[in-house]
Amino acid sequence: MADYGKVFTESIENPDKFWGEAAEGIDWYQKYEHVLDAANPPFYRWFAGGTMNTCYNAVDRHVARGNGDQVAIIYDSPVTDTITKVTYRELQDKVSVFAGGLQKLGVTKGDTVIIYMPMILEAAYAMLACARIGAIHSVVFGGFAASELAIRINHAQPKVLITASGAIEGKKTLAYKPIVDEAIDMAEHKVESCVLYQRPFLTAELQEGRDYDWNKLVADSSPTECVPVAATDPLYILYTSGTTGMPKGVLRDNGGHAVALAWSMKAIYDIDEGDVWWSASDVGWVVGHSYIVYGPLLKGATTILYEGKPIGTPDAGAFWRVISEHKVKSLFTAPTAFRAIKKEDPDGTFISKYDISCFEALYLAGERLDPDTYHWATNLLKVPVIDHWWQTETGWAIVANCRGIEELPVKPGSPTKAAPGYNVMILDNENNEVGPNIEGNIVVKLPLPPGTLTTLWRNDKRFVESYMTTFPGYYETSDGGYIDDEGYIYVMGRMDDVINIAGHRLSTGAMEEVIATHPDIAECAVIGTDDQLKGQLPVGLFVLKSGVNRDTEEIKTELVKMVREQIGAIACFRESSEVVRLPKTRSGKILRGTMRSIAAGKEYRVPSTIDDPVILDEITDTLTKMGYPHSS
Ligand code: COA
Ligand code: AMP
Repeated sequence: MADYGKVFTESIENPDKFWGEAAEGIDWYQKYEHVLDAANPPFYRWFAGGTMNTCYNAVDRHVARGNGDQVAIIYDSPVTDTITKVTYRELQDKVSVFAGGLQKLGVTKGDTVIIYMPMILEAAYAMLACARIGAIHSVVFGGFAASELAIRINHAQPKVLITASGAIEGKKTLAYKPIVDEAIDMAEHKVESCVLYQRPFLTAELQEGRDYDWNKLVADSSPTECVPVAATDPLYILYTSGTTGMPKGVLRDNGGHAVALAWSMKAIYDIDEGDVWWSASDVGWVVGHSYIVYGPLLKGATTILYEGKPIGTPDAGAFWRVISEHKVKSLFTAPTAFRAIKKEDPDGTFISKYDISCFEALYLAGERLDPDTYHWATNLLKVPVIDHWWQTETGWAIVANCRGIEELPVKPGSPTKAAPGYNVMILDNENNEVGPNIEGNIVVKLPLPPGTLTTLWRNDKRFVESYMTTFPGYYETSDGGYIDDEGYIYVMGRMDDVINIAGHRLSTGAMEEVIATHPDIAECAVIGTDDQLKGQLPVGLFVLKSGVNRDTEEIKTELVKMVREQIGAIACFRESSEVVRLPKTRSGKILRGTMRSIAAGKEYRVPSTIDDPVILDEITDTLTKMGYPHSS
């Protein structure tokens, strides 16, 4: 075991040496000239001058080394009652021929491709096929509605969109094609081709001349080799919620991403080649993107691609069944999944039905791990339960208990210490570093390590403004928290209007933009409130236009429908209330933070800039009638 402190210090004081050694974990066509190119801050570049291919490293390399017969992916789908095991050799065949199909459709290096798919093998094949030919993919979570998909089509400007006929979500069958058709119609950017994987339980109609059946395309295509790309060339765009309706297109490069993720599998998760690893998430979220597909495959591990839920598919024993059946060494998921299991099976009776002696550690991230869930999982599983903190922007953990380096004692409530490469600090609003145990803005001193965002797609300006401007020389995480006197970091929550619903990152600003288009509404605010299962849920407060005297219950139902249709059911927008006015500063800024504190039952200071403090009493009244703060 190494010494965490020494490894961390080396990573900060000598990043060239540290990441240069990590870069030996992947194969290069041509070695880089610099490990870190810091010539143009805040646009740092890793491994400039090097050429490589991410798909080669995630797939072909393992076959070339004689591991072609090892299982690369286990597709476990309780919703379709299917288990399929794909070896690295089979993966190479599937990916190289689909990559050939994409080339037939005219996709070449630097083109963009959107992937809007459920959790099926073809989603992983599509991602890897793009990487193989140097195309930039953007996976859009299948739970987003047509207009959200259209926003991403307009921004990413894909040549091809890859989708499936549908998904089974819990017990519901969802058709994807109508959503895709609507999105393509809505978008100004015209997608040239759409490749669709027909699922056995649902057949979609294809549009002549634009749509291609996945199987037919593959049957008519030949395998294609990996295309060398620059380490600094983009690999993918992953859109994530910002504070407005326009999501941020986080851009990841090839070289830094491959080096960091391959390295993280051992250093953070203690996973070696051949180990069975499971990240129960979705490739549309960064957790799944990094750790269902790229991380484990770059490492040469076996990864589980699970199409199911923690409960209801068929029961609260689903996770234990998968762990025991596939001999999973470690599982990574969001705390919500465990809260759902705990709610359904508080005594953990399902666990005794399975032999999970293979199981060594549980990793949780994506939202705050509440101490209750931590203790419940620890007592039940009797293995380390490891919280770690990161963001779509960073692509891998900022703060973690790096078990592959040195397992540190856990302090419940803290994701432990800064991961190597991240010089995490707490600053006050005047840019001063604060002392131990004092809450402030969590920032990371630049440069960020490899594998983090290089910019926002087609928007360097927003990249600089969103992350690099408030605290010059630092990356602004938008999370608040503190560091204790032993260096343990505590993450207290977002300082902006981004909320986290069941581990899904959503923007209250985007919901406000939808609600504001309702013809009867003059203005509105959406705030995040605490929820025992999903962590947070949105609540809307709206002011009606003068002269409107419709039944507000009808209006509320319309708002729910609008948010479902325009953002998606995952926004879980169900509750709203009419208010006479919204609290604002004298300059007209809505005091969402103050309303959040009222809803959470937290003490708050009446802002000195408030226009009229009496409004806060009215808001307190309304939220109390709605049941906030919750009693437990
Ligand atoms: N495609 C389409 N719709 C989807 C979807 C998808 N991929 N994922 C979720 N939805 C829909 C759901 O069907 C539900 O719709 P409904 O309001 O019509 O019922 C809505 O979005 C909310 O979904 P969800 O938040 O998942 O709630 P749920 O009640 O269906 O399930 C949990 C609750 C806790 C079981 C579920 O949230 C879960 O498994 N969470 C784990 C966390 C996780 O994987 N996070 C990913 C990031 S790490
Ligand atoms: P996403 O970009 O979807 O991964 O969401 C990132 C946000 O989720 C962070 O900015 C945090 O607010 C929150 N988050 C993720 N992991 C944790 C964690 N372990 N503890 C607390 N908050 C977390």
